[in-house]
Amino acid sequence: MKIGMIIGSLSSQSINRRLAMALQRLAPEDCEILEIPISSLPLYNYDLDDNFPAVAREFKSAIEQCDGLLYVTPEYNRSIPGALKNAIDWASRPAGQGVLGRPSGVIGTSPGMIGTALAQQHLKGILLFFNAPVMGQPEGYIQFTPEVIDAEGNIENAGTENFLRGWVTSFCGFVARQSR
Ligand code: FNR
Repeated sequence: MKIGMIIGSLSSQSINRRLAMALQRLAPEDCEILEIPISSLPLYNYDLDDNFPAVAREFKSAIEQCDGLLYVTPEYNRSIPGALKNAIDWASRPAGQGVLGRPSGVIGTSPGMIGTALAQQHLKGILLFFNAPVMGQPEGYIQFTPEVIDAEGNIENAGTENFLRGWVTSFCGFVARQSR
């Protein structure tokens, strides 16, 4: 199974990128998770719908090759980052040619105690608009502290590692069941 992973942060220091790397490492062997980058996408403008830029065509094509989509996102101002919303807008257009109606999972980390819960709730609402089946449980609201996940995506705490392994295993199972 092939999962496309979209990371909502553009930062080179992103703690969500750390989480994403950890999930890639902890996924079951038959569930390959590959990042679909969003940083090169220009700002969406429907003037370009008839002449979609190559970078946006490639972005949509990468999504089409996936069985499922994994969103790993920060919370910015109690919602999803603009960069992620922009990527979603590209993938949803031109009208009738969107590619986001795929089995999806949402997870994220923040230093705050609610661990991106509000951003995740907004994102799940957006995904439902595309009729994407979205995993409801288990939920993954990860409060980040520097010792939780290092820069290479290694996890110090066995409890956290077990939780994240369980989460990504459940997600891969969810995608497999939806794809049957
Ligand atoms: C934040 N941060 C933040 N955290 C949170 O829990 N809820 C929020 O609403 C916000 N809002 C917010 C807005 C903006 C513009 C920034 C830059 C940051 C803090 C945020 O969780 C923290 O910077 C994380 O490091 C962001 O994740 P990445 O980008 O490092 O993956």
